[in-house]
Amino acid sequence: KRAKRPAGTPDKALAKPVTKVGVIGAGLMASQFALLFVRRLRVPVVITDLDQARVDKGLAYIRDEIGALEAKKRISTDEANRLRALVTGTTDKADFADADWVIEAVFEELAVKQDVFAEIEKHISPTAVLATNTSSLSVEKIGLKLEHPERLVGFHFFNPVAVMPLIEVVNAPATDEATLSTAMVIAGKLRKNAVITRDTPGFVVNRILAKLLGEAMHAVDTGTPFEVVDHALDGFGLPMSPFELLELVGLKVGAHVLDTHHAAFPDRFFESDNLHRLAEYGTILERDAKGRIKGFDKGAVKIVAG
Ligand code: 3HC
Repeated sequence: KRAKRPAGTPDKALAKPVTKVGVIGAGLMASQFALLFVRRLRVPVVITDLDQARVDKGLAYIRDEIGALEAKKRISTDEANRLRALVTGTTDKADFADADWVIEAVFEELAVKQDVFAEIEKHISPTAVLATNTSSLSVEKIGLKLEHPERLVGFHFFNPVAVMPLIEVVNAPATDEATLSTAMVIAGKLRKNAVITRDTPGFVVNRILAKLLGEAMHAVDTGTPFEVVDHALDGFGLPMSPFELLELVGLKVGAHVLDTHHAAFPDRFFESDNLHRLAEYGTILERDAKGRIKGFDKGAVKIVAG
């Protein structure tokens, strides 16, 4: 008998309804996807972070972006006002009590994410679905301190969230079918392509990107000038050069992703001290007034090997 769904695709009928979204973290990624949730699901979205200043920064980003959509006439003024009213910020986890989809994008460190989920589980409904936007950590390990790890799924967005069409839906060993199904249905409502991946370091996309960006960084570490490495792929059809992409991803996130891959596959991935130095230093690229790349800021780079 022919299968009704492609192998591995969960039954949509199992998906849980989502009437309120809770977002933990109000940084670069979290603010971008909080905006997407409110825009596409049109349900209340509440964001939280460590303190009110961070929450306010995330809210300001979301409100500015809604204003930009309105100015470009992508949405009407009525719609913009409706969206603004649906987004709130809080530092009180009790405001997550009626959220049925709770997603985090806090700092990429296992212990931090484990504690965030253990803490939020005390405040949320027993039927709420939990998601992590981790870029390369094990979703199974992130859920180790949960009482109900079967309701945790990976839901990995790409930067810029509004533009990149993909979401990796990470099916961890404990993830149950209703959770996976909810994630797939939400991804569809966000109008993204969803791929279900195994719970392996870097899943699919970052595994490949870590190779590209890690090799680019290693070439610099061993003495090839930034300019040579960065321009070597001109004409290959990539939307961004390797170091431009690294800066878009964030140097700290990039360094973390490389370290995770090196730890998991030491014979196949490099770690780069220079990338850590650059992450502390803050930048790689020198840009002109219009934001175009004019060169590289090598202030923090040391050639470490021949
Ligand atoms: N936020 C919202 N919208 C944005 C945006 C942003 N940060 N950056 C660009 N856009 C929109 C623009 O508004 C424009 O939309 P419009 O056509 O409707 O007006 C559209 O994207 C195209 O923008 P531009 O014409 O200014 O620029 P480009 O054509 O050069 O495209 C780009 C910019 C989409 C960022 C393109 O360079 C690109 O695709 N780069 C690669 C990005 C990538 O690989 N991302 C994945 C990173 S890995 C990751 O995030 C995973 C993590 O875990 C590490």
